[in-house]
Amino acid sequence: MAVFPKVVALNFVLTFFLLNHANASEEIPAGDISLKDVPLFVEKARCIACHGLEEFRVGPPWKAISAMYSGRDRSAESLINYLAYKIRYGGAGVWGVTPMIEYEGITQEQAKIIAEWILRLEKK
Ligand code: HEC
Repeated sequence: MAVFPKVVALNFVLTFFLLNHANASEEIPAGDISLKDVPLFVEKARCIACHGLEEFRVGPPWKAISAMYSGRDRSAESLINYLAYKIRYGGAGVWGVTPMIEYEGITQEQAKIIAEWILRLEKK
């Protein structure tokens, strides 16, 4: 009986370690970026440790995120700002309980370009 809480606690510790580890070798490119820079940016920033183009990793694939907001006006400032906020400050609850970590080093301008790139993956 007493083992269960320990397993849960260990799980939290491991998850914490993995999340931080995924983040450990990140390198946030500085300066302005354009849409064509995003694939390299998300590789360097280690987003791809948790996000694939089509397959689920720790987080949802880029294409699934794009499809999720397909009912919305993709060029809407509010949608792009929402996703940019999520990229910079993280959070959970939209896709499940696993949180996305925050990225203090990413600027609002960079995050908006990344959001735009994601939204454009699923054209409609
Ligand atoms: C440690 C794993 C991890 C890393 C690294 C990570 N993410 Fe995420 N991301 C997640 C998880 C988990 C979610 C789902 C959060 C939720 O359910 O609200 C998510 C969700 C998202 C979403 C969708 C937000 C929404 O509300 O629909 C975007 C966009 C996103 N991530 C972009 C990025 C970008 C860009 C990077 C790199 C700068 C990145 N992520 C790095 C785990 C990660």
